[in-house]
Amino acid sequence: SNFQYINVLSRNSIGYINLNRPKVLNALSRSMVREIVNAMEDFDQNDEIKVIIMSGEGRAFAAGADIDEMAEDDPVRFELLNQFKDWDRIALIKKPIIGAVHGFTLGGGFELALCCDILFAAENAQFGFPEIKLGVMPGAGGTQRLTKLMGKTKALEWLWLGEPMSAKEALHYGVVNRLVAPEILLEETVRFAEKIAMQPPLSLRLIKEAVQKAVDYSLYEGMQFERKNFYLLFSSQDQKEGMKAFIEKRKPNFEGK
Ligand code: HXC
Repeated sequence: SNFQYINVLSRNSIGYINLNRPKVLNALSRSMVREIVNAMEDFDQNDEIKVIIMSGEGRAFAAGADIDEMAEDDPVRFELLNQFKDWDRIALIKKPIIGAVHGFTLGGGFELALCCDILFAAENAQFGFPEIKLGVMPGAGGTQRLTKLMGKTKALEWLWLGEPMSAKEALHYGVVNRLVAPEILLEETVRFAEKIAMQPPLSLRLIKEAVQKAVDYSLYEGMQFERKNFYLLFSSQDQKEGMKAFIEKRKPNFEGK
């Protein structure tokens, strides 16, 4: 493949992205983030792929942005690099992204996990924003996404202390969907992904888009948005097929059109 810092694989309608810089606990260099996003976009455009799974090789999902790379940075360099445009591209991926995280999931690594639509976590996963201990703060959505998930008071506690959150706590606060034993993390994630992959793809994507709006919009605006997507699905063949199959008491055959 064209990738240096990740491994990608397509199998049975699932696109896999495995972060692969294990010697530095998958510290996210800018080039690595760009590779991840490029791989996601490739899968998003590939008709064979229905769902994306992202995981990390070695001891961690990712222990944060690459500290060595940014230690000497300054604001003007950041402005000119405009590195966060790569992060912004993740929000435009239409297909479901499922994270399978284990071990250290810190800083930018946690932010990357929070970009996933669904998170499966190994019981040994540790989440946190240690940025404060470096004299900085999250910059790729951490303060926003964590707060939307767990509310202001709890988010501030984690962000200010910078201490790791156990997988159990992450489950409790709705940060992750499921906890599984580390040995079966990928297997369980794949099982879930395979179920999702059977669903009509247009419904999957328009639901994802509508749920994203629920996070951003007022209820009224979100409902208007939902309605348009609902209407739109009635122009799909899969809607005709799905309802016809129900009436004929048979299984539908969805084609993603
Ligand atoms: C660069 C990193 C790294 C990181 C680990 N490594 N995390 N390198 N950036 N974020 C490297 C270590 O330097 C070390 O390299 C190797 O990975 C193994 O790590 P150790 O520290 O030896 O392992 P361990 O003692 O088990 O400790 C694990 C750890 C610790 C607790 C996760 O590595 C750690 O505190 N890492 C930094 C976590 C962090 O602060 N993340 C937030 C970054 S800021 P060598 O060469 O010595 O073997 C951030 C901002 C995001 O993410 C902004 C938006 C993008």
